[in-house]
Amino acid sequence: MAVFLRARLRARRFVHALGNRGHRRENLETAVAGAFVVEGLHKSFGALHAVNDVSLDIEAGQVHALIGPNGAGKTTLFNCITGFLRPDAGRVLLNGNDVTHLPSHKLVKSGIVRTFQITQVFGELSARENVELAARSREGLNFDFFRKASACREAREDAEESLEVVGLIEKAHLRPEELGHGDKRVLEVAIGLALNPEVLLLDEPTAGMSRTETERIARLVRQIAERTSVLLVEHDTEVVLSISDQITVMTQGRVIAQGPPGQISQDPQVQDAYLGAVEVGED
Ligand SMILES: Nc1ncnc2c1ncn2[C@@H]1O[C@H](COP(=O)(O)OP(=O)(O)OP(=O)(O)O)[C@@H](O)[C@H]1O
Ligand SMILES: [Mg+2]
Repeated sequence: MAVFLRARLRARRFVHALGNRGHRRENLETAVAGAFVVEGLHKSFGALHAVNDVSLDIEAGQVHALIGPNGAGKTTLFNCITGFLRPDAGRVLLNGNDVTHLPSHKLVKSGIVRTFQITQVFGELSARENVELAARSREGLNFDFFRKASACREAREDAEESLEVVGLIEKAHLRPEELGHGDKRVLEVAIGLALNPEVLLLDEPTAGMSRTETERIARLVRQIAERTSVLLVEHDTEVVLSISDQITVMTQGRVIAQGPPGQISQDPQVQDAYLGAVEVGED
């Protein structure tokens, strides 16, 4: 069964579990799983409070942007959420389950998947092989000597589908170094999708991209949110304001503002700290 069909089935189970408790999406066909909560997360490096009492809440199927100047603690927060760093305090909940101290491979299995600020792919493999490897690792097939043919076929199909969703299918035979910078970042998104996430964390997916490539990623992120919740670190304020449902603004480890784009762009504290004189249209 293809990856997104499974995600949709999971979504239905999730919505069913919610019962009629006022969840904002009533159409089961379009609802996605991935309600995600970070509560009072804290991480220090010696005397530096890199992440200081950060809380955020992502409704299923939303794009939530995390913005802030360099060194604000965005990547550290990602590292704490995804099991690469152990937070000193706080909790991470996915669909109501506490996943705070799970190791990163278990977090991936539970549905929390990330991409990195710096591209991380296997250079000697083709784009297709990179994505397929991710799909297989999701099933633990890399380490299963007697892996089932059907599971391998499923991984292959999921890889194809992920490549198609991100628009890389025509270039799937190329190795990462043969892809342009934009395509390489898109490949990482495909790898993330092949892991069948409920929440996909993207760390600066448009870094170093041209305007056209940036717009492509922005469209892709919106498209992905139809299937999985997205937490996005992004420096391009135009992108952030145009594609996000909610925005969290961090400076020096702390959250200084949270809300929808219209509210954030008008917030004087945010303007001072980060956005400057960004002009936005009607929200
Ligand atoms: N492993 C570490 N050891 C010590 N200090 C660290 C470590 N990782 C990050 N820091 C510090 O924590 C602070 C937050 O860094 P972080 O990389 O999370 O910021 P960021 O918001 O992702 O910045 P950028 O926008 O530049 O990517 C910085 O002052 C950084 O120097
Ligand atoms: Mg960072």
